[in-house]
Amino acid sequence: MVSIRRATERDFPDILRIQREAFSEYLKVYEVSPWMKETLENVKLDAADKIILVAQEEGLVVGSVRFWTVAGVCVIRLLSVSLAHQGRGVGKALMREAEGMAPDAHKFYVCTMLRTPRNIGLFLSLGYRPESLLPNHYHKLDLICFAKYPHVEPPRQ
Ligand SMILES: CC(C)(COP(=O)(O)OP(=O)(O)OC[C@H]1O[C@@H](n2cnc3c(N)ncnc32)[C@H](O)[C@@H]1OP(=O)(O)O)[C@@H](O)C(=O)NCCC(=O)NCCS
Repeated sequence: MVSIRRATERDFPDILRIQREAFSEYLKVYEVSPWMKETLENVKLDAADKIILVAQEEGLVVGSVRFWTVAGVCVIRLLSVSLAHQGRGVGKALMREAEGMAPDAHKFYVCTMLRTPRNIGLFLSLGYRPESLLPNHYHKLDLICFAKYPHVEPPRQ
């Protein structure tokens, strides 16, 4: 069974290993090396002012996500799940837990690379809607950014 908890410093090497593995699938399409080369020092710095969650199964870390809230906007980044554990709800569970830990946020915000139909399907299925395109953005990547407004009723179909 998968459980989600706050990361501790002991998890940081696993987080980086899974991130490298997960983002390696884009190597042929995008320049993703910044996320694959992140250092332990950088994760420590990130952990100082952001929340890092890990998903754990049978004692092993199998995924992670980071988020922080600025003026009511909860920014979610670096969602990653190890290849062997993808497609079983771990990514969604991490996203839902992050949302649950930011009850005062009026908006959740997450960006992903534009040509990633699976990620787009994932965020749509969690109630996020595309909000903006950021061409030539971080590391020259084309990004699509999604938002979810938890306190706004969805329009009736
Ligand atoms: C994106 C990622 C975190 C998803 O993790 P995961 O544990 O596989 O995701 P889940 O199993 O919780 O959810 C899968 C959902 O993705 C969507 N999905 C999966 N394959 C899809 C496809 N081919 N087309 C469209 N949507 C798809 C579906 O909504 C699916 O939910 P469902 O099974 O209930 O229908 C993981 O694939 C990953 O680490 N990718 C590399 C890093 C990355 O791109 N991170 C996102 C950057 S913000």
